[in-house]
Amino acid sequence: MELVPLHADFGAEIKGLDLIDAVCDAQAFARVRAAFDEYSLLLWRRQDVTDDIQATFSRAFGALERTKVGSSGHGTFYSRMNNMGPDGNVVPPNDRALLIAKANQLWHTDSSFKALPAVASVLSARVIPSNGGDTEFVSTRAAWSRLDQETRDSLIDKVAIHSYATSRDQIDPGMMSAAERAALPPVRKPMTWLNPVNERRALYLASHAGAIEGMEPSAAQELLARLMEQATRPEHRYSHSWQQGDVLMWDNRATMHRGRPWRGGEARSIVRITISASEQDGLAQAMLGFSEELATA
Ligand code: OGA
Ligand code: MN
Repeated sequence: MELVPLHADFGAEIKGLDLIDAVCDAQAFARVRAAFDEYSLLLWRRQDVTDDIQATFSRAFGALERTKVGSSGHGTFYSRMNNMGPDGNVVPPNDRALLIAKANQLWHTDSSFKALPAVASVLSARVIPSNGGDTEFVSTRAAWSRLDQETRDSLIDKVAIHSYATSRDQIDPGMMSAAERAALPPVRKPMTWLNPVNERRALYLASHAGAIEGMEPSAAQELLARLMEQATRPEHRYSHSWQQGDVLMWDNRATMHRGRPWRGGEARSIVRITISASEQDGLAQAMLGFSEELATA
């Protein structure tokens, strides 16, 4: 297995070890797991990608998340994001699928809005448009290390309020149904996440975060916007231009990502498997952030 770095801050392409062989013995798995903890973003090219291979690979890293209310294939392990209708044709411009794609173009980390957050996501592109549709990433571990000591000290005990509605309402306040809102109440999440394997700390941030406990709303929003801007500057980004057979795996504790637009009318289809965080991933009790008061507020 060979690792070829993708960006000065993070990311590596894995060569010489295919996805289907990566978890079949303890030694191969340990190597991939170590690369994941070290690089935060892993890329495989030219893979045979099927739902089965993607799920079997992912399961070795932890329990698989089931998709939430309102997503296509709700209750399965497969988050299918595409702009095709049941007939296989590209949906019209006013379709909900395009709102979903647009919302994915806000910087985020997957499932920070869930009571049980995700440690990792494994994404394959099944249909790739001829132009655009890249996925961009930044390292929030690097973002943390670039903050001055005073800011780091002030963030270490802070808790942000994450809600799926916070990001979706920015795109279209009518996007989420009452059932979706009820199923996804706001959650409390610490603003940093320590990886216990290497003791590296990262900023834990997403466009799902809209408030900070103990701070005035306007001051909190200013701070969140400033941290987001600093973390996502163009020079800090790795932009992934998809090729057939590509698979990406990222660490939701230590990265943020966003989709990019593509030419209207062209099909794009991606399939994601998401792995829930556990204690061995540094999941602390404080991260199981369900709050009754928030839910009913
Ligand atoms: C995701 C995601 C963005 C995209 O798969 O979690 O946010 O469209 N994807 O590339
Ligand atoms: Mn995502």
